[in-house]
Amino acid sequence: MSEKKRGSFSGSLGFVLAASGSAVGLGNLWRFPYLAAKDGGGLFLVIYIILALTFGFTLLTTEVAIGRKTKQSPLTAYNQLHKGFNFVGVLQCLVPFLILPYYCAIGGWVVKYFWAFLTGHGMQSAEDGYFTGFITAQVEPIITFLIFFVAVCFIVFLGVDKGIESSSKIIMPALIILVLGISVFSLTISHTDADGTVRTGLQGLAVYVIPSFKGLTVKGFFTVLMDAMGQLFFSLSIAMGIMIAYGSYVKDDANLMKSINQIEIFDTGVAFLAGVMIIPAVYTFMGSEGMAASGPSLMFVSLPKVFKAMGFMGNIIGCLFFAMVLFAALTSAVSVLEAVVSSLMDFFKWSRQKSCYIEGFIALIGGIIVCLGYNKLYFELTLPTGAVGQILDVLDYISNSLFMPIVAISECLMIGWVIKPDIIINEVTKSGCTFGREGIYKVMIKFIAPILLFILLLKSSGLLTAI
Ligand code: PHE
Repeated sequence: MSEKKRGSFSGSLGFVLAASGSAVGLGNLWRFPYLAAKDGGGLFLVIYIILALTFGFTLLTTEVAIGRKTKQSPLTAYNQLHKGFNFVGVLQCLVPFLILPYYCAIGGWVVKYFWAFLTGHGMQSAEDGYFTGFITAQVEPIITFLIFFVAVCFIVFLGVDKGIESSSKIIMPALIILVLGISVFSLTISHTDADGTVRTGLQGLAVYVIPSFKGLTVKGFFTVLMDAMGQLFFSLSIAMGIMIAYGSYVKDDANLMKSINQIEIFDTGVAFLAGVMIIPAVYTFMGSEGMAASGPSLMFVSLPKVFKAMGFMGNIIGCLFFAMVLFAALTSAVSVLEAVVSSLMDFFKWSRQKSCYIEGFIALIGGIIVCLGYNKLYFELTLPTGAVGQILDVLDYISNSLFMPIVAISECLMIGWVIKPDIIINEVTKSGCTFGREGIYKVMIKFIAPILLFILLLKSSGLLTAI
């Protein structure tokens, strides 16, 4: 059978926006600000940026280059590079397969909050028990999941240029405008507590950006390092097959180095600004204690309270905020589905439409099961990390804490030691661009990245609790 024409991005901008759309997601918005606040503000930021330029750069470059070189999806790319590493491709396809249902279920939660603020009912979402009441309901979370999921499928169904690239070109600029607008607003607020204490957004900004070395120990520094690395790794959408799939749609004459730098700047920039949006707002209205939350409880419990405390402006800012979260989640979910769909297309030689229907159906069932995990199928399972979780958390644990580090370690070993880094360097430089940081790349991929990743695996999986 003759090779079907493979989709491609029309140019570098399309690739950068689509990949940034994948990278900028819930992780940037609900985890980065929390970690920065917890880990000594500016200290975390400095470590994060250094890691982004070395560790993140290495893994991102590797995946994009593997994609472009093989012109294959994650499932089939590894086999082409080295038969012995086929299992990495399988795992790398399994990761997005596991993530998709629960990421879309969370996307549905965002739809719900966006709708509540849009229709002027945002203030109710600040009431105690609102979030739990919503996710434990039997029907509504499934409906909001479906709304989000259909949008994701529709975009992927339309293809690489007409769906993924075109939607990113509209959504990403809108997201940036919202992020900048809300950040500026956050810096202008102030609030007086019942006891007369006044706190301002600018004071909150200082808490965020000024490094705090108070009581810093070696162990504490190590924790910051691991937090920053885990966050970076997730934030760049590495080890999920996504960057291989997107890399495979990049034209051979594109300047990969430039695009990769831009993606990193985009992702880190939005993560930083997420802190500028959230930390001053939470600090002003709730004080330092308010910043103890991350993840769903930051986004769906603490922030609605902050919006309520803002009074009249709260509903408007809340609506814009959740519109922004929705955009960020949508482009990330699109990339997850694309990683699986492209794998099915390449492996089974199915059409995009057929692959979308089949994976769409499986993820639909999966998503409904995740939603039912908070009511009909409720259970409490203690994970090796000590956290108690439901279906969503179990899927998250398996994909993020186990499979992703394993995939990334294997990737480093394969490129660093078996195939050798030159394969990546040659791929990047074949269009005539220079490979900046070549020395760093080689040392990172061979030694530092696999060691750091191994420690991360032990830590995030809960197998080693001492660190
Ligand atoms: N990079 C995304 C984020 O920071 C992570 C992600 C991407 C998760 C795609 C799932 C799917 O949120």
